[in-house]
Amino acid sequence: MADSRETFLVNAFVTGWPVKHSRSPLIHGYWLEKFEIAGTYRPEAVTEADFPAFIQALKDGSSGFRGGNVTIPHKELAFRLADRPDDLAEELGASNTLWMENGLLHATNTDGHGFTANLDERHPGWDKIDRAVILGAGGASRAVIQAIRDRGVGEVNVVNRTVSRAEELADRFGDKVHAHPVGALHEVMSGAGLFVNTTSLGMDGSEAPKLDFSVLASGAVVTDIVYVPLKTPLLVQAEEQGFPIVDGLGMLLHQAVPGFEKWFGRRPAVDKTLRDLVIADMGSHG
Ligand code: ATR
Repeated sequence: MADSRETFLVNAFVTGWPVKHSRSPLIHGYWLEKFEIAGTYRPEAVTEADFPAFIQALKDGSSGFRGGNVTIPHKELAFRLADRPDDLAEELGASNTLWMENGLLHATNTDGHGFTANLDERHPGWDKIDRAVILGAGGASRAVIQAIRDRGVGEVNVVNRTVSRAEELADRFGDKVHAHPVGALHEVMSGAGLFVNTTSLGMDGSEAPKLDFSVLASGAVVTDIVYVPLKTPLLVQAEEQGFPIVDGLGMLLHQAVPGFEKWFGRRPAVDKTLRDLVIADMGSHG
């Protein structure tokens, strides 16, 4: 006879290609242990070609998973294959969190929640601003733009090397979101209350450009969604220029919360022990 733990075991996954660098198993493993939940959360390396079959097995129950996280390169296909994407996933055209409910595959995107919850935790009141500047218009910046707009920030300015990518996002996210070329960065930073970096600037071996943060509104918050290293070159500069900074690790931790609650039924907290655990892991695995 199977023991009762096995009978009630709830299983969740993180899937991507590759997936072995994901820190999500560490995060969810910490919460499973903390709540003493009989569950598993494990990495599933799935190629793009195999992804539809993986989702089919989730839908028909044969995989044994209740749901999971989806990372690069499957976020768009996960959204398309879901039966019930929510409004956030619908607007982004991408999903990072899936779960089965009443026989249907639901999908959302929790990156925006991760972004805002991190700022709420580390710099409450960050959203009482008129204007924000986002540097970068790649996949990772989309949920950030959506979340800042949804908080009611009046003007969200996206600055990108390839301005057409910023324009595509401005079209997607409506009247409050504006696109600018890099040449306009200094001008759009003037008086802004929030600066967000979503690029890998200064981390690919090249030197980070020197930015004049002093034109931002006084007390403006500078944050980065990149969390390796914890203090990115742009955060170092902003701090040296006297601005409060928020690193991106909290975004990773907070984006995991809604998924855990969907699969395992408890809403976990992001605490210092968890943050330290992930930082220690970054130290040992880069
Ligand atoms: P992700 O999905 O992680 O956001 P991405 O789609 O490759 O990754 O986007 C990376 C972002 O960093 C883009 O905004 C990119 O600018 P382009 O759209 O012009 O490529 C930006 N980026 C990366 N390296 C850069 C560099 N050296 N200078 C300026 N922008 C850079």
